Amino acid sequence: MKERITELRTILHQHNHNYYVKHRPIISDQEFDALLRELEDLEAQHPELFDPNSPTQRVGNDIDLSFTQEKHTYPMLSLANTYSFEEIQDFDTRVKKALGVDSVLYTCELKYDGAAISLQYENGALQRALTRGDGTVGDNITANVKTIQTIPLHIQADCPDFFEIRGEICMPRDKFDAFNIEREKRGEQKFANPRNAAAGSLKLHNSKVTAQRPLVGFMYHIPAYQPNDSHFKNLAIAREWGFNIPEHAVLCRSLEEINEYIQAWDTKRKSLTYDIDGIVIKVDSIAQQQDLGFTAKTPRWAIAYKFKAEQAHTRVQSVTYQVGRTGTVTPVANLEPVLLAGTTVKRATLHNADVIAELDLHEHDYVLIEKGGEIIPKIVQVDVEKREPQAHKVKFISHCPKCGSPLERLPGEAAYYCTNQTNCPPQIKGKIEHFVSRKAMNIGLAEATISQLYSVGLIENPADLFSLTYEQLIQLERFGEKSVQNLLQSIEDSKHIPFARVLYALGIRYVGETGAKKLAQACRSISVLQQASLQQLEAVDEIGEKIAASIKMYFRNEQNCMLVDRLRKAGVQMEVADDEVALQSNTLDDKKIIISGTFEQHSRDEIKELIEKHGGKNVSSISKNTDFLLAGEGIGPSKLAKAEKLSVPIISEE
Ligand code: IVH
Repeated sequence: MKERITELRTILHQHNHNYYVKHRPIISDQEFDALLRELEDLEAQHPELFDPNSPTQRVGNDIDLSFTQEKHTYPMLSLANTYSFEEIQDFDTRVKKALGVDSVLYTCELKYDGAAISLQYENGALQRALTRGDGTVGDNITANVKTIQTIPLHIQADCPDFFEIRGEICMPRDKFDAFNIEREKRGEQKFANPRNAAAGSLKLHNSKVTAQRPLVGFMYHIPAYQPNDSHFKNLAIAREWGFNIPEHAVLCRSLEEINEYIQAWDTKRKSLTYDIDGIVIKVDSIAQQQDLGFTAKTPRWAIAYKFKAEQAHTRVQSVTYQVGRTGTVTPVANLEPVLLAGTTVKRATLHNADVIAELDLHEHDYVLIEKGGEIIPKIVQVDVEKREPQAHKVKFISHCPKCGSPLERLPGEAAYYCTNQTNCPPQIKGKIEHFVSRKAMNIGLAEATISQLYSVGLIENPADLFSLTYEQLIQLERFGEKSVQNLLQSIEDSKHIPFARVLYALGIRYVGETGAKKLAQACRSISVLQQASLQQLEAVDEIGEKIAASIKMYFRNEQNCMLVDRLRKAGVQMEVADDEVALQSNTLDDKKIIISGTFEQHSRDEIKELIEKHGGKNVSSISKNTDFLLAGEGIGPSKLAKAEKLSVPIISEE
């Protein structure tokens, strides 16, 4: 049985590699599934033969991953960047001079635009995956990385007993587009670009969710124990070990060849399924790399040539204004449609009034637009020569386009706000969205449903949620028996949400989660908070002048006071509950505590809450000022070592 399990694992690893890395499967999906099922059955019968790197483990699990920070065995450095070919020439001159040679062989390869990772293998098995972090210490994201099909869990070929390999995790562009459309449909925030989506997916706390994300890993660097003196050959060897290494790298013997490679890929990159943001030029000989060494931040043997963001010329048709959830008014330029980086662009963001002034934008101006890291492109230049002689300057509006109220600009801020915080439609919806969000009242209500309830006139402010009835909801489109009950139950459950979160849910400008906690601790009830003077508010820990003034302004508005009153009458917690009072103590008296690992008797959130309830502070990284490390199951060895080194006492859950 054991032999069959081992055999199946080997066969399935190979088929995975054929499918995901080589893109040349040699068996059908059906045959693959049959083998996988056989292995799953055998593993279920023999739990003692469990292997965390078995092909059956690619699906991830529901364990809440709290990332531990671990030290990189070799620092994870960045690359020197340039946009100009002259600097590549300078680099070549520097390299030749330092090595005392007339010609150097370079490997040129693609610069993948994703999230950097570092993998460690021991006896052929993937042991650890770290993010870059600060270059010295990274987050352990092994469980998430194991779900990525292009990352080998077991090396099927001869390889060093221990080695590390670096690469980039990316989300292919077409998969990213589809993924973003799905997110939008579910009322979730879209990712700005594939790089952010890939980085976000690696930092999820549930590897089952990561397993569903379309991620691909490209590898490009072995920091030590290279099998050959040539980087180019090492790439080929690592490809043999099972790593996904596109065969686009080439050896270049001259600046001309490097330039050809750059020019070719600046065009060809559009035909790749994944994003690259440049090319990397590396001295090929490992011995020469070692001679050249590193500066504090980057290797002296490599440089990245970055492609310029794609640009296009077009003309502004009009400038319109969008009102966000918090009342921020954002100007948008509507453009004559133009093709840019594969999509037709019709709009560009102008960010705020200062940007319009800086561009000196006039009506119907001809402009140059650029697509950077954001979803919406921006205007980078105005063609003054082509401007119509009578064209007027674009003048920022003075009143809200949605509700007609006057706009105001707060001192020190670039944005204009609509002053009608209580009756402006986008602000009303935004307030309700914030009110129901997970960290606030945690009511299961998607953005689209909020719009639906608002448009039929059932909700105009958060308090209206508590008057919704079964009869009203069941008549609505897309509402079935089950969804109505779930929503009503979720609203009912929210009445137990502690006061601090209710305070955060109100959406008082500048009052974030921490501020709300501090205010709840200090004031204990909404009525005390309502009556507090500016000085009293400013005396609260972490509450400054700006937040205090915003709180006073909030309660000066009669409609806000009515909202609070209605919420209280509906049964929402408007003061710190009695049992919370009983638990309060100052035992931990400002002690800075870091928690790491998983715990048996309490969830991590409960422990953090307990620490705060007893006057302690939760901190996220160890320093000599940390008072305790509360160590749970599976805590990273490097964190323990660091605590010991800094003489930070280590305590257990008990
Ligand atoms: S080599 C010691 N090669 O770009 C330096 N990096 O902007 C090892 N990157 O930090 C890095 N593609 O995260 C290398 N083919 C490639 C790369 C690459 C993408 C990333 C990497 C690097 C960053 C610099």
